[in-house]
Amino acid sequence: MTQQPRANFGSKIGIILASAGSAVGLGNIWRFPCEVGENGGAAFILLYLLCTFVIGVPLLVAEFLVGRRAQANTFTAYQRLAPTGGWRWIGFMGVLASFLILSYYYVVAGWTLEYAVASAASRFAPNMDFTAYFNSFVSHPWHPLVYFAGFMLITHFVVVRGVKDGIERFSKVMMPLLLLIIGVLVVCSFSMPGSREGLSFLLMPDFSKITPSVALSAMGQAFFSLSIAMGCQCTYASYFSRDANLAKTATSVAGIDTMIAIMSGFIIFPAVFSIAGVQPDAGPGLVFVTLPGVFETAFSGVPVVGYAFSVLFYVLLVLAALTSTISLHEVATACVHERMGLSRNAAAWVITCGCAVLGTLCSLSFGPLAHVTVAGMTLFDLFDFTTAKFMLPLGGLFIAVFVGWRLDRATVEDELTNGGAKPVAWVGAFRFFLRYVAPLAIGAIFINELFG
Ligand code: TRP
Repeated sequence: MTQQPRANFGSKIGIILASAGSAVGLGNIWRFPCEVGENGGAAFILLYLLCTFVIGVPLLVAEFLVGRRAQANTFTAYQRLAPTGGWRWIGFMGVLASFLILSYYYVVAGWTLEYAVASAASRFAPNMDFTAYFNSFVSHPWHPLVYFAGFMLITHFVVVRGVKDGIERFSKVMMPLLLLIIGVLVVCSFSMPGSREGLSFLLMPDFSKITPSVALSAMGQAFFSLSIAMGCQCTYASYFSRDANLAKTATSVAGIDTMIAIMSGFIIFPAVFSIAGVQPDAGPGLVFVTLPGVFETAFSGVPVVGYAFSVLFYVLLVLAALTSTISLHEVATACVHERMGLSRNAAAWVITCGCAVLGTLCSLSFGPLAHVTVAGMTLFDLFDFTTAKFMLPLGGLFIAVFVGWRLDRATVEDELTNGGAKPVAWVGAFRFFLRYVAPLAIGAIFINELFG
């Protein structure tokens, strides 16, 4: 196979911000609070932190390593590093899962776009029934599809502009902006009456809440949030320069990602608890049903502040979602572009059209197709379950086994030390971890829940 010249990210900070941009998304701001609320608060957060830093960071390094070594899209990457055996199917599964995640991710991303527009247009009023608003919006036959399509096209055109001009430049502007907005929102939320109870929900663990399914949820959430196990970070790493430090980049990305998830918890739960009758376990609607009401009520004395608070929050969600959809799209586009010999533009259209079909079905599963269920789940839930609780843990397991067992020590060492330029003492420990500890840990959590 011939090496094609590949595009590159232009700078180290660009590399970190692009990877972190992929990691930070609805996973942090929509899915994390929702999982925390449903899985009992602080105890779940502890498990999540453990999964992120103990299993997640080494897997992120492993994925970076594969991508930068192979200098190719995820599917080709595994094939290039291991031409024999069935290893390339790891890459294929990654590309497939990214495509599936992207399809339903666009649906929620579309909702955030609608909420940004609705709050900017002052469509939210203090005594409105936000549950009814949310339900009637998501179940409408075509309203959500308009926003879904809008979001899809925005992503499409950023991806088509290419790696350096599109993804990197975009991430460099968006990430700092995101942090700024989140910081402001945390301060606002802390100053709301009754925010204490929310803080204790987030900070006082109740260990009796830990069950096998909570553990699998925490691991799925950690992988989902870091964008690992599905080739996203592997594809980005193929654009890394030779002197990028993989371990440092992985730690920074995990740090930024976790910080934003925890900060969103600190935005959402004090707010949730400061309003009587709002439940933390409201599910996927948590952000969409509770928060607009919370904003309006908390600031009813100063509507301008409430207005600013909610517009900022939903704009933040849109931006965060966009950097993630871009990364998911890039995985699939790079694969189709390089494997099928289509131009980037044509490849991107193939993916966008595919997502349009699958995502439309997911979106309609909140309305006209609500009665279509598989194993008791709507199509949307089915996509979320299959990807986050099945394909992600499996992908993580395979990546650990691949880098731990299939790649030789010299290759791993070469990548970790940037060709010997920066020696590290932990190559052996890293391989030991990937060979034994990570597969056992992931396998135990996975099997315990699925068959326990
Ligand atoms: N991590 C992103 C988020 O938190 C979503 C995401 C982007 C993702 N790329 C991924 C999840 C790859 C799993 C795999 O919103």
